[in-house]
Amino acid sequence: MIEVNSLSKHFKDVVAVDNISFKVEEGKVFGLLGENGAGKTTTLRMLATMLKPTTGTANIGGYDLIQEPVDVRGEIGILFGGETGLYDRLSARENIEYFGLLNGMTKEDINIQIEKLSHSLEMEDYIERRVGKFSKGMKQKVALARSIVHNPSIMFFDEPTSGLDVTAVRIVHKFIKELKSEGKTIIFSSHSMNEVEKLCDEVGIIHKGKMIEVSTLEGLKEKFKEENLEEIFISLVGEKNE
Ligand SMILES: Nc1ncnc2c1ncn2[C@@H]1O[C@H](COP(=O)(O)OP(=O)(O)OP(=O)(O)O)[C@@H](O)[C@H]1O
Ligand SMILES: [Mg+2]
Repeated sequence: MIEVNSLSKHFKDVVAVDNISFKVEEGKVFGLLGENGAGKTTTLRMLATMLKPTTGTANIGGYDLIQEPVDVRGEIGILFGGETGLYDRLSARENIEYFGLLNGMTKEDINIQIEKLSHSLEMEDYIERRVGKFSKGMKQKVALARSIVHNPSIMFFDEPTSGLDVTAVRIVHKFIKELKSEGKTIIFSSHSMNEVEKLCDEVGIIHKGKMIEVSTLEGLKEKFKEENLEEIFISLVGEKNE
């Protein structure tokens, strides 16, 4: 479903992503783990067609990232942290609806999706309110709903739970599990080992732009004779830092 081939991104003299390759099969959840500045966001921005790779390409849902970016765009839903890009003066519903219309959906389909999403993400209480005064977690849930209202088969989420409280984190985790059960293919980045353990079929550990490990969770535990993912991560990254 996703095949990344020798993807790199150089910013002047900084090599943000250094020749990474990996595959994600249909219906799998892939977790990108790495320290601050490792290259997670840059990788996801390239896969999301938001940033032009310096070298390499990827096949995403049958389309080539470089040759067919518009087709790739049609297959994916994307969520990036920080700026949610929501319109403060519109309600949560209107924000989601607007994005659905931009994606060529009918009002009827949009309404069906919004009912479903607002229920799954527990946004019923504030779906009609303007987002301007929303808390960070509320905005993040609206942004998440908006990013996938058009029901894409592939999703890229950059730190989808960063800054959320425990309740909101649980709701988002449950939501990602639901998406997986619907057969969606998901890549998300995270700093939380707990999150990765809970949600991922496979993990990729990225360090200083290089993919230093790609494996299933069981594979990693087996290889390192260690059950604790955090220990595995620290020893892998620590080794490289020496
Ligand atoms: N637009 C840019 N211009 C120059 N350098 C950049 C740009 N975007 C990212 N970088 C650099 O690329 C490297 C990787 O950054 P990136 O944001 O991908 O890391 P990250 O793994 O997402 O980190 P974090 O966990 O902090 O979000 C860093 O050295 C960063 O400074
Ligand atoms: Mg990042």
